[in-house]
Amino acid sequence: MEDLKGLALSKQLVVKTLLGYGIFGAVQVLYRLIWGWKASSRMKDILQDVPATKGDGHDAHAGWLKDFLANVYRIHDWRVEICEGQPVSKNLGFSWHPGLYTLIANDPDIVRHILKDEFNKYTKPDLGYDPFFFYLEEFLGEGIFVSKHGLGSEDRGEGWGHMRKVSSQIFSRKIFNSLMQEVFVEKAEVLRRFLQRSRDLGTQVDLQSCFFNFTFDSIMRIFFGEDSNTAVGVPNMYGKAFDTAHRNMRDHAVSSLASYLFFSTFLPWPFGGRHGGLARWLRDRFSSSFRNMKAATRVLDREADRLVKKCRQDPKLGERRDLLALFIQAKFSTDFVKQMVLHLIIAGRDTTACLLSWTFYELTRNPDVQARLHDEIMQKMPPGAKLDMKSLSASEMPYLNGVIYEALRLWPPVPFDPKMAFEDDILPGGWKVPAYAQVAYSPYNMGRDAKRYPEPEAFRPERWIPFRAPSQHEFPVFQAGPRLCLGMDMAMFEAKTAAVELLRHCRFEMVPGQEITYGDKITLDIKSNGKEEFFVHVRGWPA
Ligand code: HEM
Ligand SMILES: *[C@@H]1O[C@H](CO)[C@@H](O)[C@H](O)[C@H]1NC(C)=O
Repeated sequence: MEDLKGLALSKQLVVKTLLGYGIFGAVQVLYRLIWGWKASSRMKDILQDVPATKGDGHDAHAGWLKDFLANVYRIHDWRVEICEGQPVSKNLGFSWHPGLYTLIANDPDIVRHILKDEFNKYTKPDLGYDPFFFYLEEFLGEGIFVSKHGLGSEDRGEGWGHMRKVSSQIFSRKIFNSLMQEVFVEKAEVLRRFLQRSRDLGTQVDLQSCFFNFTFDSIMRIFFGEDSNTAVGVPNMYGKAFDTAHRNMRDHAVSSLASYLFFSTFLPWPFGGRHGGLARWLRDRFSSSFRNMKAATRVLDREADRLVKKCRQDPKLGERRDLLALFIQAKFSTDFVKQMVLHLIIAGRDTTACLLSWTFYELTRNPDVQARLHDEIMQKMPPGAKLDMKSLSASEMPYLNGVIYEALRLWPPVPFDPKMAFEDDILPGGWKVPAYAQVAYSPYNMGRDAKRYPEPEAFRPERWIPFRAPSQHEFPVFQAGPRLCLGMDMAMFEAKTAAVELLRHCRFEMVPGQEITYGDKITLDIKSNGKEEFFVHVRGWPA
């Protein structure tokens, strides 16, 4: 009798709890929707005067979405078209959600405003509904490349500032003139010999893959002091795990878009809410791309541990000049060092490989440019002449510099970069911006502005001769302001070294019949016939 009563009581308790949670959950979701609706109506009002992107229905809530989906495979060119002639254009988000409200700036003054003048108001987007930055952080952990600054960060950017200061040590003049120079020259020679073999055999090569391997091998030496030779086909565990993690991260973030938005909006805590709650957690565990990413990051971690340990035990530690050795001698913790290196690799490896790939793509499309560049090289830097920062500068080799700048203008490795306003603001030109709107700049758009670059599609190194360095906000290929790319000089030096070393000895022809497009990563890589590759024939120069 007593037992039955107890059972009934506990049953009642369960029902009450469920009911209570149901009400709590419904109120929470309702509150979220009302807040979202109010926030987005407010945003729409404030953005009234900003012209919408050009296209049918783009002035309605998420009216551009259909158009966007039809153009994802040519997203950057689509953006050029829908923003044409407007200093800034808006894409409205959903009526029930403040996310996705985006302004696209084409005006250098606006770019300077968000990246420099009002630096503290704008940082990396995060409202907990966009899976991209969330999974990027799952992959990389905390670190300079994902950390926020200013009003949008919990520590007002202190963590970022510290990491920026520490990592800038690797870019000292001394390290450039010794370690980097030595490594880039050596690795470029290895690649050149590899390409000469395929010239002799008459086989075609995937030049983009070569450049990804070249930049990886270089970075392994400069950052880890470890000799890697993927360029000649020796697999590297760290590199393989890095690529696997990166690829799976991207696939997983893309496939999570809808569910992530759904969980964070329509499920109550703890099942949903910010970053998708338990539902997201569970979905991740059942997803093969997420598990593959996690497995690969564990390999990365183990490999990094091994390299750090090896470095600590190195009797010649004091003579080493790589980043790992510098950091370990400066007594940073293992975790800090591991994370720093990972972030520098993601920032510096793919970007530079993309720059080299598009540079050679343009050289094969414009054989006369390739021949002129070859002439300059044979005159100033014939085989055997020593490559260093000074001899590769714009004043010493203006044509080479023009070629690299043209490639950066037409194919910026980071083609589009959104920031989020964390406070209401007014842009130059008087455009009002509500808090939580994203303001993005697009080097791809700006590089193809016919007013600044007549016949923008034409590849003309002469545009940059004589060379006047463009201001950061007019040419934001490396971003601008306090978060300007730390590796800009390193990337230019690396790309120029490789270009000179390869073109001294080899001429390149594109394998015909490839349908060239670009990929959909954060970095702009070449796709041919839908795959991330670019095939060339290697030839000699007539004597
Ligand atoms: C052509 C090659 C490169 C391009 C186009 C490029 C472009 C960029 C861009 C656009 C950003 C800003 C990202 C953002 O905060 O939204 C950035 C940041 C950064 N880049 Fe590069 N980058 C290149 C090469 C490199 C190299 C070789 C390194 C060296 C490891 C490097 C290190 C960094 C770092 C550490 C940051 C973060 C700076 C900070 O947040 O304070 N980059 N880069
Ligand atoms: C680049 O390295 C990877 C991994 O070692 C290898 O599979 C690939 O064949 C290399 N690419 C070229 C063009 O040698």
